[in-house]
Amino acid sequence: MNEHFRPVALEHASRLINHGPTVLVTSAAGAQRNVMAAAWSMPVEFTPPRIAVVVDKSTFTRQLIMASGVFGLCIPGAGLADLTYAVGSTSGRDGDKFSRYGIEVRPGPVLGLPVIEAGCAAWLECRLIREPHTEEAYDTCFAEVVAAAADDRIFANGHWSVRDDNEALHTLHHLGGGHFARAGSVIRAKSP
Ligand SMILES: Cc1cc2nc3c(=O)[nH]c(=O)nc-3n(C[C@H](O)[C@H](O)[C@H](O)COP(=O)(O)O)c2cc1C
Repeated sequence: MNEHFRPVALEHASRLINHGPTVLVTSAAGAQRNVMAAAWSMPVEFTPPRIAVVVDKSTFTRQLIMASGVFGLCIPGAGLADLTYAVGSTSGRDGDKFSRYGIEVRPGPVLGLPVIEAGCAAWLECRLIREPHTEEAYDTCFAEVVAAAADDRIFANGHWSVRDDNEALHTLHHLGGGHFARAGSVIRAKSP
């Protein structure tokens, strides 16, 4: 349990992934659990908060999501770049990645999914919205966000606060091949 994590109002949940951070998709079904990296996620509705994420049908994650109908999205900070690349380059079919990489989890409050707080900026618990055609044809899974929380050192009162003193929690943006850009500065556009 990370003392800095605070619940995020569901109407603000879309803001957690609005800027396209690489996420860690967590899943669990029966006695099995897993975590993988995903660069392709996005919000698709404010209220109720809905998101979409591409989870390839070859992954163990997809198998668990289809079995349970739920998944988590955890948003790793820059300090977890190596871990993000590692869980995106190995399969949970070859052994539990949480144990292998020493990832601490706690059960999410609504769905009981494994959520990661140490080194993460935020997490969301999501309930799959079954769209068999979209899942099969495009590997895209739609879901409703049913709980969310964020580290108040970087996201509070519905807003990100990207500063020099919270660098380790700046979000990761995948450039390909294990290279990431870190969200490091904010530009405010003037009113048109
Ligand atoms: C940075 C990064 C981003 C990735 N993004 C996605 C993605 O958006 N969708 C996807 O299906 N796989 C993506 N992958 C690949 C999966 O994470 C990878 O296939 C993983 O090994 C699947 O693990 P699993 O079999 O344990 O579920 C990404 C990998 C990396 C390293």
